Amino acid sequence: MKDDKESLSQFENRKQDHIRLALEEEIQAQGQSGLERIRLVHEALPDLDFNEITLSDSYWGTEVSVPLFISSMTAGHTNALDLNSRFAVAAQTRGWAMGVGSQRRELSDPEAAQEWKFIRKNAPRAVLFGNLGIAQVITSSVRDIQTLVDNLQARALFVHLNPLQECLQPEGTPQFKNGVQKITQLARELSVPIIIKEVGCGIGASTFKRLQDTGVKAVDVAGLGGTHWGRLEGRRSEDSTPQAQAAKTFANWGLSTVESLLEGRMSLVPYQLWASGGVRSGLDAAKLFAIGAEKVGFAQPLLKAALHSEAELLRVMEQLEYELKIALFCTGSRTVQELKERRLWKWN
Ligand SMILES: Cc1cc2nc3c(=O)[nH]c(=O)nc-3n(C[C@H](O)[C@H](O)[C@H](O)COP(=O)(O)O)c2cc1C
Repeated sequence: MKDDKESLSQFENRKQDHIRLALEEEIQAQGQSGLERIRLVHEALPDLDFNEITLSDSYWGTEVSVPLFISSMTAGHTNALDLNSRFAVAAQTRGWAMGVGSQRRELSDPEAAQEWKFIRKNAPRAVLFGNLGIAQVITSSVRDIQTLVDNLQARALFVHLNPLQECLQPEGTPQFKNGVQKITQLARELSVPIIIKEVGCGIGASTFKRLQDTGVKAVDVAGLGGTHWGRLEGRRSEDSTPQAQAAKTFANWGLSTVESLLEGRMSLVPYQLWASGGVRSGLDAAKLFAIGAEKVGFAQPLLKAALHSEAELLRVMEQLEYELKIALFCTGSRTVQELKERRLWKWN
């Protein structure tokens, strides 16, 4: 997402822009996630009590209370400490997992790792995932990436793929050559599992296939339907620039979250399929579990809540869990696994 010689103020400005713009409605690719086309099958006489429903789950042996996670958002800038601290405390309190934002800055500025010391003091048991963009993964040594994982005491590492964003970002790094080879090496040598993710444009059959033999443990489709990085980066450039113009051309670029997930399922991949991108309710999450997601993530709605207050963030997370449980009860499913196995969904 940026050049090695980028100044601190340029980095700060970009991160502040991202947070501010992500809250604007026109940045959201609303109505394009595919979720609106899916309906769960109502069960009028579920053979269970609401309080029997259980959401408990695990990540490669690490127990959590719900199969939901806070998607990667922020790291390494002035507001990041407060925000990530809120996210991590809430994740620990509710038993969610959490991805931190790109740890790129830590590669050149070891001081940036101080953020994790503070966060680990407040949330020692939170299940956290590291994050780095593919362009930085390609140019970094496995040892340096391992340091990022260790600094955070991360349970896994997200590697994000964001070709559209890198093209439209004035300071972008659209150099992705040899990505598959580097991912394969990293999966072999890193001490924790690797999860590949997009950032809102989804993942298609060809990429799923090319990731088959890399050894990655999960792929989060992060599809079209929510925060759109083409739109967002376009807003950061002056109207007359090629970037702003191209951002309009590519305003609806991407594979929807539902489309991506179903392509992943049809590809019979050897890794877990996770879903995020435009997930805005517990019912949305339930639909994604029903069509095959192992875990479901939320970014923008939780950012909005966290910027308000820690209490609001906890309230929103609890609401999402409650809605997921209602969807389970009203389909007669005691667990997410049952919902998945019973194929309780239809096209609208
Ligand atoms: C302010 C903001 C910053 C983000 N930064 C990162 C990042 O550093 N690394 C990453 O993998 N994804 C990043 N994302 C993308 C999210 O993890 C997610 O894939 C995307 O926003 C789609 O989810 P949503 O529709 O729920 O927002 C960011 C999202 C937001 C809103």
